[in-house]
Amino acid sequence: MKRGLVRNGVKRRKPSKYANLAAHPLHLTFAAEFPEHMKQRRVLTGITTTGTPHLGNYVGAIRPAIAASRNAGVESFYFLADYHALVKCDDPARVQRSTLEIAASWLACGLDPEKVYFYRQSDIPEIPELTWLLTCVTAKGLLNRAHAYKAANDANREKGEDADAGINAGLYMYPVLMAADILIFNANQVPVGRDQIQHIEMARDIGQRFNHIYGGEYFTLPEAAIEDNVATLPGLDGRKMSKSYNNTIPLWLPEKEMRKAILGIVTNSQAPSEPKNPDESNIFAIYQAFASADESATMRRAFADGIGWGDAKQKLFERINAELAPMREKYEALIDKPGDIEDALFVGARKARELAQPLIARLRAAVGLRSLRDAHASASETKARLEKPALQPVVFRDADAFAFKVLDAKKNVLATKGGFADPKAAMAAARDAMHSMTSLHRAT
Ligand code: TRP
Repeated sequence: MKRGLVRNGVKRRKPSKYANLAAHPLHLTFAAEFPEHMKQRRVLTGITTTGTPHLGNYVGAIRPAIAASRNAGVESFYFLADYHALVKCDDPARVQRSTLEIAASWLACGLDPEKVYFYRQSDIPEIPELTWLLTCVTAKGLLNRAHAYKAANDANREKGEDADAGINAGLYMYPVLMAADILIFNANQVPVGRDQIQHIEMARDIGQRFNHIYGGEYFTLPEAAIEDNVATLPGLDGRKMSKSYNNTIPLWLPEKEMRKAILGIVTNSQAPSEPKNPDESNIFAIYQAFASADESATMRRAFADGIGWGDAKQKLFERINAELAPMREKYEALIDKPGDIEDALFVGARKARELAQPLIARLRAAVGLRSLRDAHASASETKARLEKPALQPVVFRDADAFAFKVLDAKKNVLATKGGFADPKAAMAAARDAMHSMTSLHRAT
């Protein structure tokens, strides 16, 4: 299969004050090109059901995903990541309430469950089943490097505790469960916030490794789809809007409370009439996420002309409210009829499982979970696997650094990474990658 070069679907942009919130290395990745008849793209996204939807969820995930679902040639998958919720939340009432609120939010925002796949993760038993199959091809070292796990380690070390103190294995396995969510439906694109890019890269790694080990194109390799400028919204305190920072603005606040919340966003102490820099302002960053290009340009000028913070916040409130008010009404009606939402999710799960079941059947056969009635694997199957053609490392220049790729005999790119200071370091890393691809140690 021919491979096209993409950059993760992520465009470089001018660094702003908020760029560091989303800092991540840009790795070169390679996306499979699809034959003409398979051009239908699959877009999949999930939201963890631990909290109340906030403006950041809306701007970063719900809105772009719903917009994408209206494009011709797109099949959309939306789901409630309730298994992921259990990693961080042991309050059952909260998981249930959040599931209801998030489902109602997507429906209120224009999701058409007839046209898309809309389901709850825990209604698809093929997902945990795939999680285990993937777990057994995932390098433990890959999971050691996951940002969320490492952050938890670092926090423990800072407190002088054991690195793994209080960390459940669910947090550690989180990237594998997420890979299963994506790979079970062979999704091409995953709209997520920048903080999730590493998880998508891991899903690619894990899918690639399974394909390689079991010698087939079982999985499509997904790409992160980041909507530029709006993907991470600053919260009340200027840091990324996130449940974990406790700085969110809930999506469905009644009008009056929404206005109050927006007036409470922190700003600097510049006086009214002082010219202000929109690129340093969280008010402007949020405004831009809701406004058209023209409206944003007008707001830019207002900043240069020294609009006062109070006025800027009022304009921000009006812009947000104009977008949310009609949906807020639908949301309130939906929340009052949880049974209807349950029915929609049930239909969605049935539809989704029709896709998941044949794939799981193929995967079970691929790994050897087979009926004993079937003729057992011939010696030639084993021999073919042992004779798998050698991998080849290639080092090349990438901008002002060096990069490597690992090719198989058909020149498929199995792994690639950039940012090395010299060719020797790139080659050493290529050999490491090849080593871990071919000799994952298995427990006996
Ligand atoms: N980890 C995602 C988040 O916290 C939620 C999620 C779970 C997800 N599985 C997914 C997102 C699969 C996209 C695709 O935002």
